[in-house]
Amino acid sequence: MDRIRIVGGHRLNGTIPISGAKNAALPLMIASLLTEGTLTLENLPRLADVSQLARILANHGVDYTIEGKRSGDSDTQGQTVHLAARQIVDTTAPYDLVSKMRASFWVLGPLIARCGEAKVSLPGGCAIGTRPVDMHLQAMENLGATCEIENGYVIAKAKNGLKGGHISFAKVSVGATHAALMAAVLARGDTIIENAATEPEIGDVAECLVKMGAKIEGIHSRTLRISGVTSLHGTEHTVIADRIEAGTYAMAAGMTGGDVLLKGARADNLESVLATMQKAGVTIDTTNEGIRVRRNGAGLTPVDVTTDPYPGFPTDLQAQFMGLMTKAQGTSHIRETIFENRFMHVQELARLGADIHLHGDMAEVRGVKKLTGADVMATDLRASATLVIAGLAAEGETMLHRVYHLDRGFEALEEKLQACGADVTRISG
Ligand code: UD1
Repeated sequence: MDRIRIVGGHRLNGTIPISGAKNAALPLMIASLLTEGTLTLENLPRLADVSQLARILANHGVDYTIEGKRSGDSDTQGQTVHLAARQIVDTTAPYDLVSKMRASFWVLGPLIARCGEAKVSLPGGCAIGTRPVDMHLQAMENLGATCEIENGYVIAKAKNGLKGGHISFAKVSVGATHAALMAAVLARGDTIIENAATEPEIGDVAECLVKMGAKIEGIHSRTLRISGVTSLHGTEHTVIADRIEAGTYAMAAGMTGGDVLLKGARADNLESVLATMQKAGVTIDTTNEGIRVRRNGAGLTPVDVTTDPYPGFPTDLQAQFMGLMTKAQGTSHIRETIFENRFMHVQELARLGADIHLHGDMAEVRGVKKLTGADVMATDLRASATLVIAGLAAEGETMLHRVYHLDRGFEALEEKLQACGADVTRISG
């Protein structure tokens, strides 16, 4: 199993190109199931989750073609991929494929919408909480499907097709919003989705669906109004920049000090994060090219943070922000309100010398003068990035084990950090 060796103590200086967003890329790929036409996605990141989803989609009959690299293209440039689901050959998404990645469960909506039936294994993914799918099933039922759970599978049927309906989510869910939207675009009649998630990745998918011929109003708002159409067609779409990747490298620059340009990052999708970092004493400038993050010597101020659905502070940056706060001059409090088990990085940060105490859903982070390198274990995707950036700010050598978590969601992480002067190496095997 690969490991990553980090020798801390180097400031980050340079440019980091931000990749296409994993959390947009996955549902965009799934949207290809909704049409016989070809969906061309540009700026698709090279990630283990993308390859895994390609295998799942191939099982349903999607032809997946990656355009060859042109000379001069770099590994961080994203790929162009064509997806064509001319015929759905199998409406079952089996356990051995779905269990590796939670988002693969989202094929449920498009499969019922297009084929009137789907059998999808209950999902896996990061062990950050119980992560039920009740709201996904509720949405399908509101659109006229019947859903049963048998032997670990959701079996959904809508013999005469889906029909428009009223979906009102009890809480904000990114996945359930994607599922409801992708099912409603092909349902007969009108659908209203209330309390929809407004994460930028949902807006990106909705905009792509509109290009495919879907009728959606209220994109980027809490209420989506959809008029179903009988079919969708292919289109071309560029995946938006990954705000979580950008936020992660912003925290890295804040932790080590230095001056980094996050090329292609969009400040408008990171407002709560950038405002919080500024309060902590990190200098942020928005330029035509992206976001510039700087910290020169001065200490970090502790800032309290509570995670919330967008536009609040993202749970996917909670661990990284905690990393930053371990170096603050004082105590900060970080509350996690989205997932109940998303503090597994705490004990690993403690191995680097962090002083963190958990009180239910709140972490009390007492800043320390220095972190020191140690062996640490990646517990989930975002936590593993935190351990890398904490390693960059620690004295001496940190060895990160179980790197496969990182490869699910961060494209060319070592190369991007090395280009800014970090001493980061992958040890294979
Ligand atoms: C997505 C993101 C993930 C991010 C999360 C929250 C992708 C591929 N993943 O995950 O990176 O951390 O949003 O921003 O985009 N819930 C229910 N019932 C349901 C569905 C969800 O109770 O049927 C709960 C979850 O347990 C959680 C909360 O709703 O407490 C939010 O989860 P959700 O937004 O659905 O997360 P994901 O879509 O799985």
